[in-house]
Amino acid sequence: MMATQKTKLQTHFGIIRNGILGFILTATTASNAWGKEESRTEKRAQLLEEVQLKRHDEKALAEMLPIVRCSFKPSTYEEILMAQLRNTQSSTKQFRLVSEKISDLLVSKVIDCLPTKTVEIETPVTRCRGKVLDGKVELVSIMRSGDALLDTFMWHFPEANISKFLIQRDEKTAKPQFKYMKISPDVASGNYVVITEPMIATGGTLEMVITLLKKKGVQEEKIIIASVCAAPEGIVLLNEKFPKIKMVMTTMDEKLNERKYIVPGLGDFGDRFFGTSEKQLVLNVEPNIANEL
Ligand code: URA
Repeated sequence: MMATQKTKLQTHFGIIRNGILGFILTATTASNAWGKEESRTEKRAQLLEEVQLKRHDEKALAEMLPIVRCSFKPSTYEEILMAQLRNTQSSTKQFRLVSEKISDLLVSKVIDCLPTKTVEIETPVTRCRGKVLDGKVELVSIMRSGDALLDTFMWHFPEANISKFLIQRDEKTAKPQFKYMKISPDVASGNYVVITEPMIATGGTLEMVITLLKKKGVQEEKIIIASVCAAPEGIVLLNEKFPKIKMVMTTMDEKLNERKYIVPGLGDFGDRFFGTSEKQLVLNVEPNIANEL
């Protein structure tokens, strides 16, 4: 065989061999990646099952979901407030008032996650030691419902910058879709970043927001989520994806329904707070105007 023919044959053989090898490698990598994803999903499903099974075992829950930095069991006062929020009979006005009270309690839980330092102060009677926050806070609101907690958080953190995200969930797929963000220039300056998100369902919206914040330079360990009502599905996801964040909430509910609403939940928080749910549009206006709608 001529030398050039031999080289050609070797090259062809090489291409075929490399092609097969490449195919095998690609297939193996893809199946590895798929296998990894599958085992992650399986692990998440197992943890979810265990969390739901042990939903009254405070100690077990704290071990399984270390990102949660408050009690899983609401206080009696929180239970009373939650009953009012959940009740369909509560008007928009009542819903807003109760949301404000719950937000106050959430601020207190957030502050328990923040570093403090001791300072000397003078009272009218004597000198003593007192506490102050050690560092500043940045607020992040996920519109619309995150804005419902914002007034109260601004009241307690009057100097905080406020970043905003608009992520809408596709009502058919329940998947989050990015729409808008305006981020404070100091968001990644090392301050604690408190995200207000009253309802955590699948956790998909928060996953998107935290990923975007991290891309902007925010450290995961500086993030604190403040939520009213969280589903185990969402908490389990966030616990897996962002193990260094902290989250506080008023209550962890039972589960999600097939439409990805929290059960027992309270319906759409934004609609109830802003008075835009179908039923409330009719219920909250004067009867003669209601007839014209
Ligand atoms: N968002 C809400 O407002 N309510 C839910 O139940 C789930 C997501």
